[in-house]
Order: sequence, then C-alpha cells, then structure tokens
Amino acid sequence: MRIDVLTIFPGMFAGVLGESIIKRAIEAGIVEIRLSDFRAFAKDRHRSVDDRPYGGGPGMVLRPEPIFEAVEAVRAKGGPEASRGILLTPQGRRLDQALLRDLARERWLILVCGHYEGFDERIRIGLGFEEVSIGDYVLSGGEIPAMVLIDGIVRLLPGALGDPASSASESYSQGLLEYPQYTRPVEYRGMRVPDILVSGDHGKIAAWRREQAIARTRERRRDLLDAEGAADR
Ligand code: 6GU
Repeated sequence: MRIDVLTIFPGMFAGVLGESIIKRAIEAGIVEIRLSDFRAFAKDRHRSVDDRPYGGGPGMVLRPEPIFEAVEAVRAKGGPEASRGILLTPQGRRLDQALLRDLARERWLILVCGHYEGFDERIRIGLGFEEVSIGDYVLSGGEIPAMVLIDGIVRLLPGALGDPASSASESYSQGLLEYPQYTRPVEYRGMRVPDILVSGDHGKIAAWRREQAIARTRERRRDLLDAEGAADR
C-alpha cells in the first residue's frame, strides 16, 4: 500500500513513522508513506496557505490553490493508478474499525491534513475526497488524526503484525471489547490468574473469554451490543 500525506507540518510524523510496527512495515515494504508539504505550493512571497474568511468572522481558512496543486503533483508522480482521497476534518464521518478495514484494502491513499478554522469549501467540492473525523472533539489539526488512521490501517496489512491472529481477536474486531488477559506470575500482590486460564481446557477457556468479552461490553459499551449485527455474535 502507498499512503501520501499532505501537511504543512511533516515533522510531526517522524516519531510515529520511525518506531514500532509502522517502522517495521515500512522497512518490510508492506507500506510506503510519503509526506508532502503543501506549503511548497503556496504562490505568494509569504508562502501563505491560509487567509481570512470572506464575509468576516474569526480565524483563518485554508486556501484552495496549494492543496489542489499538491494533490495534482502527488497524483502525477504516482502514475495512472486510482487513489482514494481523504480529508481529515472534525466534520467528517467518524472513524471506526469497519472504515479502517475498508481503507486497508486500498492500494493508494492520499490524506490531506486540515488546519485553522477549516477548508475553503471548493476544496471539499472540487477534490471529491471523503471527509473523516476521529471522534467528537476538536484537535488543532489533521496531523494526529492522520497518524491515527495510518496506525489503524498499517497494523491490518498482511504481514505487519508478528501474529496475524492478534488483529482478529482484539477489541472491536468482533464488535466486542477484549476479554481480560493475564501473563506470569500466576499470583501478584494477592491477585491470582483465574484458575480456568491455567486449566489447559481450551474449550472452557474460549467460552470463558467470550462470556467475559460480552459482560465487559455490556457494562462499558452497551451501544456496541445494541449496534446492528450484535445478534450474530
Ligand atoms: Cl480529523 N481534525 C481536527 N482538527 N479535529 C478532529 C478531527 C480531525 N477528528 C476529531 N477531531
């Protein structure tokens, strides 16, 4: 998979791309991530990417030209292959595991990080990108949301995790929160690992984990159980 990120703060990505699973996936050739600074496409001598809103009001709005031209440059470099474009904005569709799974099937994503009070509406209209938000709160820009998206996608790519079963069993993948996990020691500060987990009875262990996952989801995230498809679990 190829992911292009358009941002005016490419430096923010170094830590996230340079460590752990994403770093290893890049080194293994599972994903190629390219950062483009769309300030390079600003036209005036101040290199401005934003301006005051027509009609007045607070804040600044991202101008269309640098973003259109940056997207065109990235697409021209990438060749004829189809790309799926995403604008990161709090007004977008809220990210969930189903959307991550869908995005992980793409060959090429282009992520555009917003800033200031928002995008000139012609960016939304003219680019035809999907708009994605990572939740109902406001962040100062789309960079951290883009990193969230990249992390959630890359770990789903074949070969990115050591054990492919780990992305299938964890929270949300079955529409349930994860069951409680334990490792050694068997007793720590008076707290014991449940006997069933050391019993060696794999059928009972699987049943216990499922019950725990359902009970935990019911207590903490009733909304997940009520969601469509809950009957199949
Ligand atoms: Cl994608 N951008 C910003 N600025 N804030 C957010 C967001 C995105 N998603 C949630 N909050």
